[in-house]
Amino acid sequence: MRLCVTGGAGFIGSAVVRLAIKRGHEVLNLDALTYAACLENVSDEEASALYRFKQCDIRDREGVQEALDDFKPDIVMHLAAESHVDRSIDGPSDFIETNINGTFNVLEAARKYWEEAGKPERFRFHHISTDEVYGSLPADPEVKFTEGTPYDPRSPYSASKASSDHLVRAWHETYGLPVVITNCSNNYGPYHFPEKLIPVVILNALAGQPLPIYGDGSNIRDWLYVEDHAEALLLVAERGEVGRSYNIGGDNERTNLELVQAICSILDRVQPRSEGLYSDLITFVTDRPGHDARYAINASRIRDELGWQPSVTVEEGLERTVTWYLENEAWWQPLLERKGVGERLGTGKAKSA
Ligand SMILES: NC(=O)c1ccc[n+]([C@@H]2O[C@H](COP(=O)([O-])OP(=O)(O)OC[C@H]3O[C@@H](n4cnc5c(N)ncnc54)[C@H](O)[C@@H]3O)[C@@H](O)[C@H]2O)c1
Repeated sequence: MRLCVTGGAGFIGSAVVRLAIKRGHEVLNLDALTYAACLENVSDEEASALYRFKQCDIRDREGVQEALDDFKPDIVMHLAAESHVDRSIDGPSDFIETNINGTFNVLEAARKYWEEAGKPERFRFHHISTDEVYGSLPADPEVKFTEGTPYDPRSPYSASKASSDHLVRAWHETYGLPVVITNCSNNYGPYHFPEKLIPVVILNALAGQPLPIYGDGSNIRDWLYVEDHAEALLLVAERGEVGRSYNIGGDNERTNLELVQAICSILDRVQPRSEGLYSDLITFVTDRPGHDARYAINASRIRDELGWQPSVTVEEGLERTVTWYLENEAWWQPLLERKGVGERLGTGKAKSA
């Protein structure tokens, strides 16, 4: 099949590109190459006849239209987005422009392409979203996000993603565009940009720097290994029911403190410090404003209807991830120079954009 992947130079998009090429699909990677992009994530795929790349900003409707008309995809997998909650607090406008207006452009370009192609039966628009659109859960472990949970986004990032989900649904209901939507929990794994919690903790630990934990570390996230997410995404893109959304999660709830302690234990074993334990570096810092307390996914729909389940436990996934960062300094070292990386963002004190 021919897949157009927006945001294919990012963390999750590149995992999708790598898996799709491995499966023999033809891929057009459409990415603006923002601060969060790394074409190195797909450097092995570059040589493949199945792969092509086009630098394109989804805020440029004509550019997207040209790319779709030229490539003629069977499926558009839309991942391009501003993705960092802390950056959305300091500068929400990029999130509105890319995540909302950009998604509108990709939808309109896809609709025109699909209509002019005679509405091919197999065409799909797959919108990749987050569980953060559902808001924050109480502590009760029985309560999890289902596909029917009302939307209640609480950060500029999650509000922009929620808006884009609504647009995608509206394009299905109004224009008949064959869409599928997925809402996934927190991902982690190789090629995770070093501004997100897990890579920050690994790299700060290796540098002997403080390991910052927001608030008291009690916030709970449901962690999913990125390659398991990529598997789920291809499955939904190919076999998901049109008009339906699917929650994807790892069933791996951990508090941030537990997660950081687990990373510290792995590092204590594989690369011990000369003195003390890595957990000695844990430092509690001022919480993020509006920090959601708990996310947890009920993934029974994708499991029961499409037969997907995660293949990696969080212990195994963290071990693989720590090993990957230890072995790939050449990948992450240059990224530490990018704007904002290593700085405390999202305190709400930055000037609004
Ligand atoms: N990271 C997670 O834990 C997670 C969980 C659930 C859903 N998601 C969603 O998955 C998608 C990918 O997330 P990620 O973590 O890989 O993000 P990322 O920040 O690592 O990558 C985003 C990619 O999109 C590109 N991009 C940004 N703005 C663009 C624009 N205007 N035009 C074209 N390309 C642009 C960037 O260059 C980058 O390559 C996002 O839509 C995100 O909301 C992420």
